[in-house]
Amino acid sequence: MCAHVLAAVAWPYANGPRHIGHVSGFGVPSDVFSRFMRMSGHDVLMVSGTDEHGTAIQVKADSEGLTAEQTADKYHRIIAEDLQGLGLSYDLYTRTTTDNHRQVVQEMFTVLHDNGYIISRTEMGAISPSTGRTLADRYIEGECPHCGFDGARGDQCDNCGRQLDPVDLKNPHSRIDGEVPNFVETEHFFLDLPAFGEALAAWLETRQDWRPNVLRFSANFAKELQPRAITRDLDWGIKIPLEGWEDNNLKRIYVWFDAVIGYLSASIEWAKRSGDPEAWKTYWQDEATRSYYFMGKDNIVFHSVIWPSILLGVNGKGDKGGRSSEWFGTLDLPTEVVSSEFLTMGGSKVASSRGASIFVGDFLKEFGPDALRYFIAVAGPENQDTDFTWDEFVRRTNYELANEWGNLVNRSVSMAHKNVGSIPEAGEFTAEDTALLEASKQAFTTVGELLEVCKFKAAITEAMRIVTLANRYLSDQEPWKLKDQPERRNTVLHVALQVVSDCNTLMTPFMPHAAQKVFEALGGTGVWAAQPQLVEVTETREDGSEKSYPILQGDYANELAEWASKPIVVGTALSKPSPIFAKLDDTLGETGPEWAPIKPVV
Ligand code: MF3
Ligand code: ZN
Repeated sequence: MCAHVLAAVAWPYANGPRHIGHVSGFGVPSDVFSRFMRMSGHDVLMVSGTDEHGTAIQVKADSEGLTAEQTADKYHRIIAEDLQGLGLSYDLYTRTTTDNHRQVVQEMFTVLHDNGYIISRTEMGAISPSTGRTLADRYIEGECPHCGFDGARGDQCDNCGRQLDPVDLKNPHSRIDGEVPNFVETEHFFLDLPAFGEALAAWLETRQDWRPNVLRFSANFAKELQPRAITRDLDWGIKIPLEGWEDNNLKRIYVWFDAVIGYLSASIEWAKRSGDPEAWKTYWQDEATRSYYFMGKDNIVFHSVIWPSILLGVNGKGDKGGRSSEWFGTLDLPTEVVSSEFLTMGGSKVASSRGASIFVGDFLKEFGPDALRYFIAVAGPENQDTDFTWDEFVRRTNYELANEWGNLVNRSVSMAHKNVGSIPEAGEFTAEDTALLEASKQAFTTVGELLEVCKFKAAITEAMRIVTLANRYLSDQEPWKLKDQPERRNTVLHVALQVVSDCNTLMTPFMPHAAQKVFEALGGTGVWAAQPQLVEVTETREDGSEKSYPILQGDYANELAEWASKPIVVGTALSKPSPIFAKLDDTLGETGPEWAPIKPVV
C-alpha cells in the first residue's frame, strides 16, 4: 500500500527568529508525522515556506530601519537555517516572495473573481492618526462584541473563535502603541464567504475525526460567515490582478489570502524543481491523496474554513457555481487540520519566575535538535496550553533520554562490544526473552496506529515504555554476571540489541539525529534518517533583478529507515559506543541558560 500524503506545514512569519513555541505548533508535529508516513511506505510531499508579506513584516522593518524586503530576506534565512537545524524534513521550504507564488496567487484571485466569489465593497478602515497609515487588523485590540473577551484582535477573537473586523471591537486601540485608530472609508475586495455556507457545512459534517478544538472553532466560525476582506491598504504584498488595480501602489492582497495558497504554489515549485512539472497534481487532484495541515491554534479558521472556501470557490463549488482553473483543475480540500495549543515560556516550575523568549537558534546551538524534539513530543502542547520550564526540560533530558534510552543503547552495545566484539548469536530463548521481543514487535502496530492519527504524546510514551521494559529485562537478567555462562549471556545481549534496534526505529520519527547515531552504533552504514539540506538558489524577479536565497530540500526516498522490526545481523562488528545524549547540569533548571535566563518576579 503506497498512498500519497501531502503534509502542509504552516508558514512562519518573517518578522523575527522563531521561538520554541512556534516550532512546537507547526514544526515538530509535522515532521514526526511525515517521517513516520515515509517510513510506512507512503509518498509524502512536505511543503512550506516563510510567510513574508503583510503588516507584521512591515512593522518589524520599520522598527529595524530596513525595507520590508530586507527584513523578509534576513529572517527567511535565519528561519530556514533553524528549521534545517531542527531536522524538519521538508521536500520544499520556500518563501512567499517568489514569482511562482505570485503567479499562483493571482490565478487563484482571478478565477475566484470570475466565478463571482470576490466582491468589492467600501468599508471602514482603521488609520493611525499619528502616521496616517493603515493599522492592520491584528494590531488592533479590544473587547470582543460576542463573548466580551478583552484581548480580541481586529481579525479574530482567540477566545470564541469568531471572525471580527476592527470596527466591531469595543475600545479599539493599537497593540503597538495604544493609539486609538480613526475609521475612514476605503474600497476593498472581499471573499464572499456566505456563498460557501452550505458547501462548507456539508463538508465540515464529514470531518468528525478532527481534534475537538479544531471542530469547535470551525463550527462557531462557519455559523456566522460574513464577506471577508482580502485586500489591504499597504504597499508590501502581491498586487491585485484586475484592471485598474494592478498599478494601485497602495492596495495589496491580504497576507492570509496569499499565504494559505502557498501550500499549492510550493507544491508546484517543488514539482518544477524535481524535473517533473506535473508531479504536484497527484498531491492535489487525486481523491485518494490525504492532506494534513499542521499549525498552532491561532491558525485554525484560516485552514479549516477560509482555505477550504477558497478551494471550493476555485473549484466552482459554491452557491454561484463557476469554472475551475485550467491550470489547477479540481483541487482537494484538507483531509485533516492538526492544530496544537500554545507552548508558553514560564521559565521554571516555581511560580514566581518568568522565562525569556527561547529562540530555536540559541536552543539548537547549546542542546542540539533531538532533546527539544523529544520534549515537544512528550510534553508539548498537543491538547492543552503547556508551559515550557527549564527544570522539566532537564528532568526529561536527564532521566528519560539519557538514563533510560541513552543508557539502554550504551550498556547493550558496550557489553556486546567488550565481550563479543560483534552482534552475538542467540541460543534458545526463555519466556522472558520472548516476552520482551514480542512486546517490542507489537509496538510497531500500537505506536504506528497512534502516529497515524497524530497522537504524538501517546506514541512516544508507548515507545518509551518498551525502553523501560528492556532496561528492566537487563536488570533482571544481569548479563554482566554471566561470565561463566557465555551462551546465555550472548542470548541476553542479542535480545537486548534486537530491542535497541526496534526501539531506535520507533524513535526515528521523533529523534532522527540520535537515530542515525544509534543505527551506526549497531554497526549500520549509510543514511538511516535523511536530513533536509539548505540549498542556495537564484531567481530572476519580475523586474529582471537577480536574487539568491536559501531553500530547504531533501532526498528522503532513499533513507534506510522503515517502520518494521528488522532482524539484527549476527556477526556485525561493534565498536565502543559514545553516549548518545549528554546529561545537563541540574542548575540549568533553576537559572535557565545565559541567553534565556529565568528572572524571579518580585
Ligand atoms: N504566518 C502565519 C503565522 O505565523 C501562519 C501562516 S500559515 C499559512 O501565524 F500557510 F497559511 F500561511
Ligand atoms: Zn470572542
